[in-house]
Amino acid sequence: MSEGKRVTTKVSAEEINRQYKYIEDIKQYNQDIAMKAGKAARYSIETFGCQMNENDSERLAGMLCEMGYSECEVRSDSDLIIFNTCCVRENAEQKVYGHLGALKRLKDTNSKLIIAVCGCMMQQPEVVAHITKTYRHVDIIFGTHNLYKLPELLNTVITTGKTVTDVWDSTGSIAENMPISRKEKIKAWVTVMYGCNNFCSYCIVPYVRGRERSRSLDEIRKEVGELAKEGCKEITLLGQNVNSYGKDLEGDFTFARLLRELDKIEGIERIRFMTSHPKDLSEDLIYAIRDCSKVCEHLHLPVQSGSSKILEDMNRKYTKEKYLGLIDKVKEQIPDIGLTTDIIVGFPGESEEDFRETLEVVSKAEYDMAYTFLYSKRTGTPAAKNPNQVSEDVMKDRFERLLELQNSISLRINNNLLGEEVEVLVEGLSKNSDTTYTGRTRQNKIVNFKGSPDLVGKLVKVKVDTIQTWSLKGRLVQ
Ligand code: 5AD
Ligand code: SF4
Repeated sequence: MSEGKRVTTKVSAEEINRQYKYIEDIKQYNQDIAMKAGKAARYSIETFGCQMNENDSERLAGMLCEMGYSECEVRSDSDLIIFNTCCVRENAEQKVYGHLGALKRLKDTNSKLIIAVCGCMMQQPEVVAHITKTYRHVDIIFGTHNLYKLPELLNTVITTGKTVTDVWDSTGSIAENMPISRKEKIKAWVTVMYGCNNFCSYCIVPYVRGRERSRSLDEIRKEVGELAKEGCKEITLLGQNVNSYGKDLEGDFTFARLLRELDKIEGIERIRFMTSHPKDLSEDLIYAIRDCSKVCEHLHLPVQSGSSKILEDMNRKYTKEKYLGLIDKVKEQIPDIGLTTDIIVGFPGESEEDFRETLEVVSKAEYDMAYTFLYSKRTGTPAAKNPNQVSEDVMKDRFERLLELQNSISLRINNNLLGEEVEVLVEGLSKNSDTTYTGRTRQNKIVNFKGSPDLVGKLVKVKVDTIQTWSLKGRLVQ
């Protein structure tokens, strides 16, 4: 083992088995209830935030299915309601409080209802204190590091009727071999690493998700192999900063190597990943994207700001020039790359000049799409203490200008695809239609077209005939 290397461990098999024992107990309990009531217990999970949370919710759902719960679309018909929360921006938190308030009435009419809250928000002690005090109808509070303990926590509430709060600091361990129930069959999220070591000065994630922990290559390979056998065609590898993959593992593991290994798995047609931090985007990774036939030509590379001064204040560890240099290198090696980014508008101290540099980078990088955010002050982060907070009016004005520029670029790029044939992985029916199917190109563009059910899960060619800012329409090429 190289000096100073921290080795990520797994939650012990004994501990996992203990949870399976609770799963069995609750399954029995639910069966007894179902016999009496004539219907199975039902759960609903509402997920806030990123894909990582979506993937965590699939794990919660997996455990609940094993416990005999079935999924329920309607909150008011559920016996168990879980909110998997996000705290990256303030409005995500406010939404959760709003929903929690609304649940009081449900609990008043159904005292058997169990309400659980988990996820990133719960890793902040002041949030737990607020929920405990204000939303007394909540039964279970747990965090991001002990998600796998849901069976035990649920069992405690069922057997004692008391509220349980169990939030941990990171233990540096990863729970493997717990059940999972995925929403989709064709595409799947696969988390490859947890946590973040970067401490961007605006961001709460490193405080609530702990330090970087990579799953072992074998575990990831096993999961992807099983997915392939189940008919999954596309995987998206998830991590706050996938480029750090393997740094905490014993041996020579890098994200580029992981991609090369997963590229060999038969049955999987496409591999995507997010998110990459520009400071760690290696040449080797660029070559891996270029060389691996299944790895899609799509890179999500958050720039956050185009001003080197703001980037320094954000603790991003790259300059505008270095970022643009990277983009050039990526485009040189992978000319048909689809590029997307995250941008924060109104970081403390951002001047009009700084903002114009962001517009300049957006123009030069020519992103297919940008996820744009108003800066949100997160207590506990260094940026929250910065006295030069940007006023809301200025922020909103800049936000609109950025959106306008990006929309025009997205439209222009899409326009180049008019009349082109693109490869689409068919995902299913598009919303509110019986005949229009939807899928994505390798560059991650949404394409809608008239199709049939037998095409779902297949790669088809579509000739693009209509352009929109966020999606394309076309006709199947027979
Ligand atoms: N305010 C606004 N946006 C934020 N993000 C992270 N923290 C904040 C914040 N405090 C954005 C970043 C990140 C994305 C997931 O969320 O752009 O890349
Ligand atoms: Fe937050 Fe920065 Fe880590 Fe992304 S890399 S999760 S923005 S601290």
